[in-house]
Amino acid sequence: MTAVGIDAIEIRTGKLELDLAETFAPAKGDDPEKYTKGLGLHASSFPDAYEDIVTMGANAAHRLMERKGLTPADIGRIDVATESAFDNSKPVSTYIAGCLEQVFDEDFHHANKGERKFACVAGTQSIDDAYNWIRAGRHRGRSALVIATDTALYARGDPGEATQGAGAVAMLISEDPDVVELSTEQGFGSADETDFLKPNQQFPSVDGKRSVQVYLARMREAVRDFESVAGTIHPDDFTLLPFHTPFPGMVRKAAALAYRHTIRDTEIEEELAEDIGRQPRPEAFDSDEAYVDAMGEYTDELVETDQYRDWYDRVVDPTLEISREVGNWYTGSVHVARASGLKHALENDMDLTGATLGVASYGSGAQAEVHAETVQSGWEDEIAALNVDEQLDNRYSISYEEYEHIHDVHNHDKDTDAEAEAFTPPEGEFVFDGWGRMGERKYRYVE
Ligand code: CAA
Repeated sequence: MTAVGIDAIEIRTGKLELDLAETFAPAKGDDPEKYTKGLGLHASSFPDAYEDIVTMGANAAHRLMERKGLTPADIGRIDVATESAFDNSKPVSTYIAGCLEQVFDEDFHHANKGERKFACVAGTQSIDDAYNWIRAGRHRGRSALVIATDTALYARGDPGEATQGAGAVAMLISEDPDVVELSTEQGFGSADETDFLKPNQQFPSVDGKRSVQVYLARMREAVRDFESVAGTIHPDDFTLLPFHTPFPGMVRKAAALAYRHTIRDTEIEEELAEDIGRQPRPEAFDSDEAYVDAMGEYTDELVETDQYRDWYDRVVDPTLEISREVGNWYTGSVHVARASGLKHALENDMDLTGATLGVASYGSGAQAEVHAETVQSGWEDEIAALNVDEQLDNRYSISYEEYEHIHDVHNHDKDTDAEAEAFTPPEGEFVFDGWGRMGERKYRYVE
């Protein structure tokens, strides 16, 4: 069977940066370490006044196509995953195609376009759709452009405000991919949950503490479901484990449970038993509560062991390096985590060709998905072509007052667009260019 997977990746960050420890924490009267240590975040990315989900997605896709020497004829579908859409009918992919048609000679009239919604897991679902389309043989030799783009804003004063972010990840899904081949095996954990939702409103209704528990519960189901088709997972199976990363502290919790689950009945559990005992087993307890308490105590000790720390530092921590600087990108977050881990490997001269990644996506509402990916021989060139460090370094750092201004500019209920002043000059990129006759958003390319 021909390999199908991710052939190219581009990351586009919002051009503004809010420093959480230096700027946000003092304004909120918080200890900076709540952000840097507790949540694991240093900064958030925000879109400048002329940026939005369309410009970030189109700019990422444009760079990807230019770099790969592609024309619209090479693209058979454009799927956008977002939970920040501004139109309940016309998909964001049409706006992005419209942007790209301004800079390419050909059009995308032949391309199937759509928009995927299931909170943050929709980016992974769009990759799935592209994978299935290619596997079904309906692609006529073409590739799919998958764009995960979000402006993750919370109402001011919401606890989620600390985890905001904005950016897009564009991915090319093709036969014989250069970056990773996707496994056929997948695991799902999906349930009707009300942890985080936006019932026809821009800013989410969030039960933050519960959302953390729902993430863990659905992820646990997805891991078990994956094991039911792919076999029992051992912690050494995966060289990197990119998770959906609303904030790195969330991944720290998920990773501890993943490690605990995958060392059970292995030589690692036996080796650790000398120091911290074996994992509690439910049959040894009279009540669920006593079992859960004992598991909690075991986990607290487990994460302090050298074995766990070594595993975490090698397999999980590298996937969090970009996220720490940009915050939550919702649909793009797990794809940023994958890119971050690969970038770390490249910078540390690791030979990853043939290595296996375990990719764990999550979307509120709620669904987790787990699959494996095999790193392909072209990964180094692809990851070396990313300019994400340059983009991060060039961000304009906003004061708290400027943050409040830009938050208002992007608030759909506030009429600030007319006088919205940008903090950075646009150059060589698509920009928001006002409103059209039917309430549509308009875009133009700035040389
Ligand atoms: N030094 C070190 N650590 C500190 C600290 C300090 N001074 N002060 C606090 N901390 C730690 C806390 O102990 C806590 O860590 P633990 O959870 O490990 O105990 C962490 O920092 C955060 O502190 P709080 O729990 O007090 O923070 P909070 O209540 O203000 O907000 C939150 C946390 C509820 C997750 C909030 O950020 C939120 O609502 N976020 C949005 C929802 C979200 O991202 N949920 C994640 C799962 S859902 C999902 O993944 C989908 C999605 O993308 C939204």
